[in-house]
Amino acid sequence: MPPSPCTLLLVLSVGFGLWKLNRRHRATVIPHGEERVLILGASSGIGREIARQYAARGATVCVVGRRMDKVTAVMEKCKNSLGLSADITIVKDMVRVRTVLEKEWAGVDTVIVAAGVSATRPLLEVAGVGLQQDSDASEEGIQFAINAAETAARSNYLGPMIAAISFIPLLKRSSKSPSILLISSLGAVIPAPTRTMYGSTKGASLLLYQALAIEHPSISFSFVLPSTVEGDFRASAVDQEPLPENLPAQVANERTTLNSTNSTSGLKVYRVAQRCIQAVDYSEKIVFIPHIMRLGHLVYWIWPSLIERKAMKKYGFTPE
Ligand SMILES: NC(=O)c1ccc[n+]([C@@H]2O[C@H](COP(=O)([O-])OP(=O)(O)OC[C@H]3O[C@@H](n4cnc5c(N)ncnc54)[C@H](OP(=O)(O)O)[C@@H]3O)[C@@H](O)[C@H]2O)c1
Repeated sequence: MPPSPCTLLLVLSVGFGLWKLNRRHRATVIPHGEERVLILGASSGIGREIARQYAARGATVCVVGRRMDKVTAVMEKCKNSLGLSADITIVKDMVRVRTVLEKEWAGVDTVIVAAGVSATRPLLEVAGVGLQQDSDASEEGIQFAINAAETAARSNYLGPMIAAISFIPLLKRSSKSPSILLISSLGAVIPAPTRTMYGSTKGASLLLYQALAIEHPSISFSFVLPSTVEGDFRASAVDQEPLPENLPAQVANERTTLNSTNSTSGLKVYRVAQRCIQAVDYSEKIVFIPHIMRLGHLVYWIWPSLIERKAMKKYGFTPE
């Protein structure tokens, strides 16, 4: 007789519990106090909180961002830290960061790629075509959209690629347990309106790193996919211009509210940072935050229209 669903569930829960208890913590190989952590994009938000939490448990951290005043402020809160002003999209900058790490630490154990920029408008609107219009985009409008897309692709896709090429060999030759964590986004695997440029560029770097994980099995790769996080990430939007004049008032208001910076709603930054560090500690491959969103990804392939409706609701998007 086949086992009842209750027995099956019990066996699965006990098995999962035992597996969790037996997972090997990376600290058995690299004690917390000896871990050397590079955080690209640590001058604010999630990266900054990851730096704070690593430093609090004794790791040496290297804080990287373009705004040196912010980098310095983070360094002041982190004992044993280095701070560098560098741009993840500039090859020379990443090679300079690598040279400093080799000189100061003789290598690195953990690379966190947190740097990223947002884009928050419907694509055609970025090109100057209101959603209620059926006129063609002008040459200038198309060019404006392409310029914004290039900026998004540089930070969200080419930057992580430059980081991977720059640091993978150093990680391999200098660490007993090399790890890379990419902060991706739920928007990289579940499509969302007003997030065309953001989701597609984050999706590109996610797939890049997933393929790199196969090419470099001696490195533990982790990918964290959070939904909306509190903070002012939207201030980095690369596609902002005044909303089209003929946008209906209600839509314009909704759009302004949704794009307002410094959101206090969403996942807590400290919680996302904690989960990122846990993912590295236990070599977890893909982490959805919240966990249930793994199902959203699955449901999209089975019942896309359901997820599309939910996405429209979440972003207050009314199609033409
Ligand atoms: N906030 C959300 O709702 C959310 C949701 C899912 C995923 N994420 C992802 O989480 C990551 C962190 O975002 P956050 O919420 O912490 O936003 P944030 O506060 O704006 O942090 C972004 C960080 O990236 C750095 N950065 C951006 N472009 C860079 C570049 N070219 N070179 C070097 N550093 C660069 C910024 O520093 P500088 O400006 O000083 O360079 C900043 O430290 C991003 O990759 C984002 O895609 C965010």
